[in-house]
Amino acid sequence: MKDAIENWKPGTSLPADLYNSKDAFDADLRWLMTSQWLLAGHVAQIPKAGDFFLFEIGGESLIVTRNREGEVRALFNVCRHRGSRVCLEKEGSKRIFTCPYHAWSYDLDGRLRGASSMSEDFDKSKNNLVPANVGVFQGLIFVNFATSDVPDFGAFAARFKPLLAGQGVAEAKIATRQSYPTQANWKLVVENFFECYHCRAAHPTYCSVHDDMKMIAFGAGAGSGQGPIVEEYLQKLKAWEALASEKGYPTGMFADDMNSEHFQSCNRLPIADGAMTESVDGKPVSKLMSDFGEFDGGQTGCVFTPLSTLLVNNDHAVLFYFVPEGPSSTRVETLWLVHPDAEQDKDYSCDEIVKVWNTTLLEDKTITENNQLGVKSQVYRPGMLSEMETRINEFGRWYMQQRYK
Ligand code: FES
Ligand code: FE
Repeated sequence: MKDAIENWKPGTSLPADLYNSKDAFDADLRWLMTSQWLLAGHVAQIPKAGDFFLFEIGGESLIVTRNREGEVRALFNVCRHRGSRVCLEKEGSKRIFTCPYHAWSYDLDGRLRGASSMSEDFDKSKNNLVPANVGVFQGLIFVNFATSDVPDFGAFAARFKPLLAGQGVAEAKIATRQSYPTQANWKLVVENFFECYHCRAAHPTYCSVHDDMKMIAFGAGAGSGQGPIVEEYLQKLKAWEALASEKGYPTGMFADDMNSEHFQSCNRLPIADGAMTESVDGKPVSKLMSDFGEFDGGQTGCVFTPLSTLLVNNDHAVLFYFVPEGPSSTRVETLWLVHPDAEQDKDYSCDEIVKVWNTTLLEDKTITENNQLGVKSQVYRPGMLSEMETRINEFGRWYMQQRYK
């Protein structure tokens, strides 16, 4: 593996071992869990004190809950008695978490409340559930497993603030959600999200929704294309941005390079001429979620880390996060968010709201799984990337530098 890594050339896909080997996967996962803030969900999943869901990754299980003060907590789901899982339900609502083994019980902050038949010198206060690092930004819950050198959450999130202003993500509710178990390495899933070179061949619905030139220039967000078409599109974008700015709606973009900590990017672009939102016919699929007072047809795309992306339209948002589960297994989790007052079957229909991305993600699942089958072959060698895969090239360089520098 060492030779393959040393001989790897930027501008090509990665060596086979990095997509296939169990050792590479285990090391990747540990690195991701400690160096990155991982998206675990949205606060709308736990609206009331005691509501919780489990976030499971890399053999760890976190109870993500809300305490009496309304704060979000992430607690290791590991009993301080002899280590049993404390909470077995995947989601629900509780006043207290009681371990099913010997019934030690913990409050919503993880404080040990009850432990029967323990000796007098047993100190309850030293046996609370262990907290994990947690941060909430715009209602999005991020967790991190580092025990030292925890990445700065403020700096991680702050740069997205201007481009998400006034768009209602923090207050949104969940319209529906879907999980796409994908038999592919997390890096293949990420790479597929970082390019739109495949869009014409694989995504007829997605292509019918989005501006043609934009898909070539910026199909997978800021930094995803190169060449004269980017300049040409930026000229076209200027007029739309001028209008949006005049009205006080956010505009702009940034894209981190290989030397960054989290490889983030963000932009706000019009979906297509005449499209109000990212729906099959460009017409609204829910009530306005932003506080703009009208549809401006823009879509804010945020890549918080390569494992988590948020797309915000005027009337709904789509949140994607990838949970690596094995060398060739990744769970793609997707949440669709709408205005908290939007009523199902009146303001929105789940079938309509998921149409573009459910179709696209099922297509992505197939192409990514086919990709994984091929990189397992004895004849696979890193292949040359196109101009429309600029973001993959940068991601590959970032990954190699961060992991093997
Ligand atoms: Fe939880 Fe014993 S392991 S109470
Ligand atoms: Fe795709």
